[in-house]
Amino acid sequence: MFSQQELKQQAADAAMALVLPMLDSQAIVGVGTGSTADLFIDSLIRHADRFYAAVASSERSAQRLIAGGIRVVDLNAVTFMPVYVDGADEINLQLEMIKGGGGALTREKIVASVAEKFICIADGSKLVNQLGSFPLPLEVIPMARESVARALIALGGRPIPRTGFVTDNGNEILDIHELTIVDAKALETAINNIPGVVCNGLFALKAADVALLATNDKGVYRI
Ligand code: A5P
Repeated sequence: MFSQQELKQQAADAAMALVLPMLDSQAIVGVGTGSTADLFIDSLIRHADRFYAAVASSERSAQRLIAGGIRVVDLNAVTFMPVYVDGADEINLQLEMIKGGGGALTREKIVASVAEKFICIADGSKLVNQLGSFPLPLEVIPMARESVARALIALGGRPIPRTGFVTDNGNEILDIHELTIVDAKALETAINNIPGVVCNGLFALKAADVALLATNDKGVYRI
């Protein structure tokens, strides 16, 4: 039996094997946030001579990359990014995800939107039939916290403010419990339209392109 940490490592290693052929001396790699993304960052650091730079989806990932000697560039300077690699809190067979457990959802969605390919890496426990057991994170403008919360109650959710947490963009997070997510794309659109919502953690309108899920029974399998 592998530990969850070992499974995350296997998924990160599988991603590196997929990413290496996409790289050259000019390549810029999009990098996610979280404990699984950290392992991918460590692998990137070991292959620092195979690409030019990275774009980070959080200050935390930027610091880890820089500490490992990787050049981190501003997304505004990037016109082509072959790949973005990140974890997820939940993923379904359509490769739709809930992300943002670490609070980095907005920058994650922005960087992912620029990349040609989104590779999701996770241990197999993240695979679900239906999204929503994991509370859906929303980044909100602070003055809109309560109005957004009321709108989410009207959609059937139970919002809980993430106290003591400020995003890299200076905003707050509402975690929405008990949402029934049948049509993730429709819900992502509906929540995006609520004034004061900066971003929501549904990645369905642009889902992952590939998922690499590490399991004890089936090894690392690809969806
Ligand atoms: C960060 O905001 C999140 O989207 C993470 O990508 C997600 O929570 C997965 O994190 P772990 O790899 O730590 O489970």
